[in-house]
Amino acid sequence: MKTLVVSINKGGVGKTTLASQLGRYANQLGLRTLLIDLDDQGNLTRSLERKGCATRLKRTVTEILFEPVSDGDLGHTQFSILAADGGLTKAVVETSQIKATHHGVERERATIAHQNFAEFLKLVSPHYDLCLIDGPPALDIRVMMALALGDFAICPIQLAQESIEGMSYTLNGPRGILRIKGTVNNKLEFLGFLPNMVESTARQKEALMELGEKLGHHFLRDDEGRVVLIPLRQSIRDAQGQGVALAKLAKTNTQARDTWGKVRRIFDQVLDRMDLRSQIDAISEHRQELIRAEKTQQRLARICEPDLGLKDDLAVMDEAVSEELSHV
Ligand SMILES: Nc1ncnc2c1ncn2[C@@H]1O[C@H](COP(=O)(O)OP(=O)(O)OP(=O)(O)O)[C@@H](O)[C@H]1O
Ligand SMILES: [Mg+2]
Repeated sequence: MKTLVVSINKGGVGKTTLASQLGRYANQLGLRTLLIDLDDQGNLTRSLERKGCATRLKRTVTEILFEPVSDGDLGHTQFSILAADGGLTKAVVETSQIKATHHGVERERATIAHQNFAEFLKLVSPHYDLCLIDGPPALDIRVMMALALGDFAICPIQLAQESIEGMSYTLNGPRGILRIKGTVNNKLEFLGFLPNMVESTARQKEALMELGEKLGHHFLRDDEGRVVLIPLRQSIRDAQGQGVALAKLAKTNTQARDTWGKVRRIFDQVLDRMDLRSQIDAISEHRQELIRAEKTQQRLARICEPDLGLKDDLAVMDEAVSEELSHV
């Protein structure tokens, strides 16, 4: 299981949108996907449960951080969510230094939460290919915990609202991503800043130039080295608002189709960077094989029922002849 933490200490930049839409896409590709909602607002939980697409694990996030959990209790599916319960800020952030007994030893609650989260990720790892963690708009202890245990991190930003200082703090501040990588989790890979809700205005272009000059090497880039950007689009807002995949809206709406084409390439880029491509290709090959096997099975069934086969042949003949006649 590969774990991606979506985090930045700014509100409303698109963390939840990225986690939920990427999760839906990964699931559609056949990756067994787990989403974890670390935000008490519960937007990710609501968005994924709205149309009943993801199934809630039988424990909530605060429960798995403070109560013993066994694998059989969780109820894994191909697309699961560890739901928010509104109690995490109180349970971890505000009372992090209060002591409690864990496995017979007295420890701070933050340490207990961290150990239990590490155990939880290990426990669920064989059941999933991808785990996406949606953080709150903060760089607090729960986000640090996720970064300390995750494999990858990504930070959506809004160009005109970001500053070089803010982004540098996200990377190198006392709780920064690179600081955590350098101290407690050297396997953590920063995929980059991902500008979201991009419009081609003079202000945003100026911001991209300015931020790019100092921190350009920390932006997510495609294979040709071009910076990757998610445009501001009503269809993205609509998909999130309706609790559906953008890919679904794309089936009936031309603007959504165009946007989905762009967003899908970005998601593919992210999945490639997480080394999931060979797994996705293997799943796709397996699906093709199943389709081929089913078709072979159908042909065999027809051969085994000669009467039915004969009737079909006569129907084809009738059709062909009636076409011929109509051309005379
Ligand atoms: N590219 C986009 N184009 C248009 N609307 C977008 C785009 N990305 C996100 N949104 C919308 O912006 C709003 C905020 O997005 P979202 O909830 O994902 O942000 P967030 O960073 O998770 O916020 P919070 O910090 O409160 O958790 C949502 O209504 C969402 O649908
Ligand atoms: Mg959010």
